[in-house]
Amino acid sequence: MSIQEILKDMSYGPAPEDPSIVHEWLASRPDGFGHFIDGTFTAPGTTFEVQNPATGRVIARVTQGSAADVDAAVKAARKAQPAWADLSGHERARYLYAIARHVQQHARFLSVLEAIDNGKPIRETRDIDVPLVARHFYHHAGWAEIAVDELPWTEPYGVCGQVIPWNFPLLMLAWKIAPALAAGNTVVLKPAEYTPLTALAFAGICAEVGLPAGVVNIVTGDGETGAAIVGHEGIDKIAFTGSTEVGKTIRRQIAGTGKGLTLELGGKSPFVVFADADLDAAVEGVVDAIWFNQGQVCCAGARILVAEAVASRFEMLLRARMETLRVGDPLDKCTDMGAIVHPVQLERIRALVEQGKAEGVELHQGSAPEGCFYPPTLATNVEPASVLSTDEIFGPVVTMTTFRTPSEAVELANNTRYGLAASIWSENVNLCLDIAAQVKAGVVWINCTNVFDAGAGFGGYRESGFGREGGREGMMAYLRHPAPSGPAVELARLSAVPHDGGGTDAIDRTAKLFVGGKQSRPDSGYSYAVAGPAGPVGLAGLGNRKDIRNAVEAAAKAVGWGGATGHNRAQILYYMAENLSARSAEFAARLEALGAEPSAARAEVEAAIRRCFWYAAQADKFDGAVHQTKSAHVTLAMHEPLGVMGIVCPSQAPFLGFVSLVLPAIAMGNRVVTVPSQPYPLAATDLYQVFETSDLPAGVVNIVSGPRDELAKTLAGHDEVAGMWYVGGAEGSAMVERESAGNLKQTWTEADGARDWSGRDGQGRGFLHRATQVKNIWVPYGE
Ligand code: NAI
Repeated sequence: MSIQEILKDMSYGPAPEDPSIVHEWLASRPDGFGHFIDGTFTAPGTTFEVQNPATGRVIARVTQGSAADVDAAVKAARKAQPAWADLSGHERARYLYAIARHVQQHARFLSVLEAIDNGKPIRETRDIDVPLVARHFYHHAGWAEIAVDELPWTEPYGVCGQVIPWNFPLLMLAWKIAPALAAGNTVVLKPAEYTPLTALAFAGICAEVGLPAGVVNIVTGDGETGAAIVGHEGIDKIAFTGSTEVGKTIRRQIAGTGKGLTLELGGKSPFVVFADADLDAAVEGVVDAIWFNQGQVCCAGARILVAEAVASRFEMLLRARMETLRVGDPLDKCTDMGAIVHPVQLERIRALVEQGKAEGVELHQGSAPEGCFYPPTLATNVEPASVLSTDEIFGPVVTMTTFRTPSEAVELANNTRYGLAASIWSENVNLCLDIAAQVKAGVVWINCTNVFDAGAGFGGYRESGFGREGGREGMMAYLRHPAPSGPAVELARLSAVPHDGGGTDAIDRTAKLFVGGKQSRPDSGYSYAVAGPAGPVGLAGLGNRKDIRNAVEAAAKAVGWGGATGHNRAQILYYMAENLSARSAEFAARLEALGAEPSAARAEVEAAIRRCFWYAAQADKFDGAVHQTKSAHVTLAMHEPLGVMGIVCPSQAPFLGFVSLVLPAIAMGNRVVTVPSQPYPLAATDLYQVFETSDLPAGVVNIVSGPRDELAKTLAGHDEVAGMWYVGGAEGSAMVERESAGNLKQTWTEADGARDWSGRDGQGRGFLHRATQVKNIWVPYGE
């Protein structure tokens, strides 16, 4: 070929990476791999095959972890944990640092092994996966060093069970193990059955650096092994990355056990291209969004939404670029896209695409060799209801639809049950930030996509899960505030009487519900009697499912509250303090009627007023951060409200407990539907007038009194409710966590009576953390 021809063709010859070091390593285990438990490799047990998806060849056999294996691993982790947590942060940091160094020393080996095991191109494992793994351990060596100063009043969970997927086998391991260890936890981790080999190589690194036995345990196996880890009673916290379906199963499986949980699940992320975007750059963005790792990326930009004005030009550019992608041997350094992880996944992709075709979708495809490969695919003429628009394909298939206005773009972007990531392309950064704020996603990339760094949090909204990995917020997922403990409280039964039905003397003592800023009669038409020590003190509305649904609807409508400035919200909280103060004698008298000592009643009202001031102060000060990530990127970590929250209040602190939960939630911009103390709701319902006279917008606080757990169940099962706080019995806690699995709402449950609401436990930043989620927005700058 002449130089002229080469320049014209611009194609490359193959540049294969030499896999011999990996082959030698694999050949040294002819009987297969055991687990890594208590610092040593166990003998192989019942094994299963691991294939190289690019060739279909069996490359190793690994052990199917049994319940006994999981038990041995959990026991080893439990035994090792106190000593690990007792080390100084500096000592733990040195181990994490050593791991990072050894990952770098073995970088080539790990890159090749990952490419062979997973099928992803060596270009990616070498330039992205493995460097990010090292970065993660360095970053968390730093957290181990400083966590005691930076994150005070926290403690490690203990033993963490971690289950990871096959799309970034080693990187997901690093995301899980590095923060867990930095925080003083020990771990039992299960890699995915398709891709267990780099985790076993990592176990070798742990042994090499002399990590104390039992701190990291790796058990291989399939979903059954995963379920055994999740269900083991010696585990204190579960961290899972994988499908939304399994995430929901896990949520239900551990409901009521008190185990911590973070879930990083699926996505169907929008890729929004405005008319003024740099279209060439956006086309390259699509390559990185959906054809990176064969589209097997939870945050893949799988739905292109492009402005109608530039749609045809964009499609032309994109199709031309798609033609140039090289699909093939993962070990060839010129390969853009490698193999699909497993024939089962390939079949899944094919089936979904066939379904799309049957719905009338038009397909444009690049080329791919025979075998476990799938060509880069663009689907046009796709309806929003098409399976290709709604389902996570987890393959190199992207849909394209058009929009006309920015608000239509937002509507389409949010038209999904997921909320993991979004990518927004426009030369107008004002517009990008405006859209970023409106998109329901945990990560937003502006004029870039699939950018990751250990210094920034990663994780989703809605059915993409909860909790963050990376950065300060990721550390918080492996540390907890010591839980207050106290006796659980039994609830007395309610006795229903017709609403306004007498039995007590004063009309103004028949409290109604408070829905959408108005006092309303309960749907049932019934009330229930509220008694103090000296007999009946009034009637409260007997709310039911319908009342809860109305209240949620009212809260959903009060969407403006989330967009109000912190200053605006603070003003209203101050106003509430003022009005509460003006009526403090009345509130104190009510508490006395309910059985409080006069001085305690006065102190409780005083404390409530102070709490209004404290949360008013926090409303514009509970800031996010600008994370230190990649050069020439600003990474904004913003606190956002969850949205509509359900709050089921303690029965034992009917006034201060209510105030202590509602204030932090609304100070952060949430709208709440509350169930006040079942036996003593009147202390909370007296607040109606305070809300009405304090300019609190209608629907921000809604109160539905009645049977606590029945109402809690409706709230927990409601799809519009994004977060749920429940203070009550053990059975109710389990029920709330189980019911919340439907839309994967964040939950916080606690035993009634456990917390002293009047003391330091009744107020603090911990409440604000629970009332917010972090959105990380990446904004690159420079040429
Ligand atoms: P999966 O969710 O079944 O597997 C992920 C991990 O969970 C694996 O280690 C598996 O062994 C384990 N697991 C399975 N069932 C479990 C259970 N009941 N309890 C505990 N652990 C369990 O995902 P799968 O079947 O490999 O892929 C299916 C689809 O899930 C993909 O096509 C994709 O749509 C989605 N997925 C999403 C991922 C993400 O990063 N968000 C990663 C992998 C898959």
